[in-house]
Amino acid sequence: MITVTVNWPALREVALAAMKTAYVPYSKFPVGVAALVTDGRIISGCNVENASYGLTLCAECGLVSALHRSGGGQLVAFTCVDGNGNILMPCGRCRQLLYEHSAPGMLLETVSGVKTIDEVLPDAFGPRQLADYRVVKESTP
Ligand code: THU
Repeated sequence: MITVTVNWPALREVALAAMKTAYVPYSKFPVGVAALVTDGRIISGCNVENASYGLTLCAECGLVSALHRSGGGQLVAFTCVDGNGNILMPCGRCRQLLYEHSAPGMLLETVSGVKTIDEVLPDAFGPRQLADYRVVKESTP
């Protein structure tokens, strides 16, 4: 479990700057996200919509892409803001996206205080379930 002191206002500033770059001609609902990575990097993302509405990329998609494009690692702390700069909860799909790349105990700034990834996505499905399945399968004659 990682223990860090997170500068939430600074992280939110990065999310705010990212939110201002959102491409949202359809919903007019810009979202910006930012995260602290295990090595101290700060990464960010914004939502990018599409005329084929269902193809919209949530801001978290951009963040995960930025994570890997800038050297990988795991997410330690995460924040998400809307167009008014208010804290926004990541949608269900994006909680799953974040879970895949989270450091154990990853923190999120939420509408009801700082929470862990396990609190916002309890009993999550993740890479361990796939690995456990393979172990059982390979040891079954
Ligand atoms: N959106 C995000 O970018 N992240 C979320 O976690 C919630 C929703 C975006 C998708 C869409 O462009 C807009 O918010 C309205 O749903």
